[in-house]
Amino acid sequence: MPTTLLTGSASGIGAATQAALQAAGHRVIGVDLRNADICGDLSSSAGRQAVLQQVLAQTGGVLDGLVLCAGLGPQVQPASKAVSVNYFGVVDLLDGLLPALEKGRQPAAVVVSSVASAQLPWERNPLAAALQAGDEVQAGQIVDGAGDKGGQLAYAGSKNAVTVAVRQRVRTWGQAGVRLNTVAPGAVETPLLQAGLQDTRYAQAIKDFVAPLGRRADPAEIAATVVFLMGPQASFVHGTQLFVDGGMDAMVRPTQF
Ligand code: NAI
Repeated sequence: MPTTLLTGSASGIGAATQAALQAAGHRVIGVDLRNADICGDLSSSAGRQAVLQQVLAQTGGVLDGLVLCAGLGPQVQPASKAVSVNYFGVVDLLDGLLPALEKGRQPAAVVVSSVASAQLPWERNPLAAALQAGDEVQAGQIVDGAGDKGGQLAYAGSKNAVTVAVRQRVRTWGQAGVRLNTVAPGAVETPLLQAGLQDTRYAQAIKDFVAPLGRRADPAEIAATVVFLMGPQASFVHGTQLFVDGGMDAMVRPTQF
């Protein structure tokens, strides 16, 4: 039975992914702020290190799978917190757990990014240089100083950078024998989306964000894609971003892929 670590396991896409992975035969170790096997806070470096130590202690330093789903939406204040969880909560765990994954059986990892990752290209991402340098303080200052635009910048900028971070690791992880991919959901019915709908700054944009399929996703539809990417049927899929967005990305960027 593969042992798979899953962040954000207590809610939304993470909770659906926990159920789907268990149904596919994984032993899942969930990480979240509360209601999880390992309770920890991915928004600070100290919190991430504490989570890593607990994971290594619980698994004996061997992992077969890693799914990084924990994330915060654009409505969160301060906006810098979304950058910390969405970007550093991913790259610190990727880099900290690669040695454990290398020792696993048919190891694989999936990062839950977003369709928003493609809407702010790296070349125009104001957070790119700070995040590439691993400068959490500077990235936080940029978004917290951006006024009303800070939330959207934090969300799209961190999601763009996290997809880039996965793609930049493709050679190292490939040589280590660990597959690594991202899933980019469109609008999914979860508490995160509901929180955005209740915020007057974002409600209209979310309502207008209608995919060609004409509806939002159920979290189980994202979970099914994560399970596919984690499993043997995806054995040659590495370094890719799989959009699960009802056609949104193709509609917005038909000539870019
Ligand atoms: P959610 O709010 O239902 O679940 C997110 C989980 O992350 C929660 O259980 C929360 O406690 C956990 N989390 C947040 N901050 C944390 C921290 N500091 N430390 C540990 N855990 C923390 O949200 P949802 O929608 O299920 O989001 C999951 C992922 O999917 C996120 O990365 C989100 O950006 C992404 N996504 C969601 C979309 C949507 O429309 N719902 C669209 C595209 C991407």
